[in-house]
Amino acid sequence: MNSLPANNHEWLKRKIIKKGGIISFHAFMNIVLNDPNNGYYGSGKAKLGSQGDFVTSPSMSEDFAFLLSKQIEEWLIQFNSRGLCDLKMSIVEFGAGDGSLISGIIQYFFKNNKKLLKTIRIVIIEPNEGMIKKQKKKLEKYLKLGLEIVWKSLEEIKDKSLVGIILANEVLDALPVERIINRKGKIYRQGVSLDKNSGKLMYEDISTTKELNKSIAIAQEKLSISIPPKDAPEGWATEWHIEDEIWLRSVYEKINNGILLIIDYAKEAKKYYSSSNINGTLISYKNQKIVSNLFASPGNCDLTTHLCIETLIHDSETIGFKTIGFVKQGEALLALGLAERLYEVKNELKKDISKALSRREALLRLVDPLCLGDFKWFIFSKFQKENFDIKSSCIF
Ligand SMILES: C[S@@+](CC[C@H](N)C(=O)[O-])C[C@H]1O[C@@H](n2cnc3c(N)ncnc32)[C@H](O)[C@@H]1O
Repeated sequence: MNSLPANNHEWLKRKIIKKGGIISFHAFMNIVLNDPNNGYYGSGKAKLGSQGDFVTSPSMSEDFAFLLSKQIEEWLIQFNSRGLCDLKMSIVEFGAGDGSLISGIIQYFFKNNKKLLKTIRIVIIEPNEGMIKKQKKKLEKYLKLGLEIVWKSLEEIKDKSLVGIILANEVLDALPVERIINRKGKIYRQGVSLDKNSGKLMYEDISTTKELNKSIAIAQEKLSISIPPKDAPEGWATEWHIEDEIWLRSVYEKINNGILLIIDYAKEAKKYYSSSNINGTLISYKNQKIVSNLFASPGNCDLTTHLCIETLIHDSETIGFKTIGFVKQGEALLALGLAERLYEVKNELKKDISKALSRREALLRLVDPLCLGDFKWFIFSKFQKENFDIKSSCIF
């Protein structure tokens, strides 16, 4: 049985025809995720969590926000004690999904450090109106309490105005990518067009752009990443993250003193761009299942990619960020006290066994190396004072 919504994508066809019958994969991904009327995130159709299309760490387990908050608290206390907070401190979340992470962070500070909470404002940077509605609903009770929670676009934030912690959990994986393909040793972009007879979406090769060629050349020169790799078979394809550098640069410009934590699935370049990884990492999800045909139900499924570890770190450092650390999520959460949280579940078993068992299962999935435990935490900093040293318990 096909559990996908009816594949009626007339809206998308009209957009492609309007653009001359073919669009880049980058444009396709942007439209199917972010179109305000029909896009998966843009329209707010996205359902996160174990009852939705896919789980993210905060939508699956409240313990994730609790443990991450311990790290945020440790950082902010150091900001405070070392005079970095002449401006009000911020916790900024990019792409806040259904608002679970911010809600969990606020709950943590309410219980554990109200004094610090008073010195913080929460900023959400979310381009998709459909998701903003969900976030406002989730955070309604805190807004009513008068907590400073604001939604802003990146452009609305002044340069060098942010002091605090900037979070991006599973956001860079939703930034549109170019798809590139090997044709006899030459690289083309994959475009999306419509089959003349059936009207179905199909891939069509298009030429590369100057920006794409430049970005690939930099990866070759600085990181020895060969695209296509030696021995790549005909039709070898992958994705290229052309937005990461632009995003990192714009975030860097907004920070005065701050830590940027990016959490995502990420692969080493030698595995990502190997000749045997013939189809990149692009994946589509619906109802907790992988949808192998990316064109099956555009706008109704999530589309996501892994990040490339080396290019992300290289881009960040070239822009000016300092790398504080890079750690697997499983290790980071254990260092922050996941085992103690697991131990607490024992006491809950007698009260509500099914609730306790699902909490335990979620905790284990957060650290499972075959599941969310393999996510990578990239921690970058920008401080005005050079060699500002900051303790981070999440790194062993
Ligand atoms: C996979 S969801 C992750 C949600 C949430 N961070 C979590 O972990 O549950 C991706 C989120 O990023 C948002 N998003 C997409 N493009 C974005 C961009 N350029 N800047 C900020 N957020 C973006 C989406 O609307 C969505 O809320």
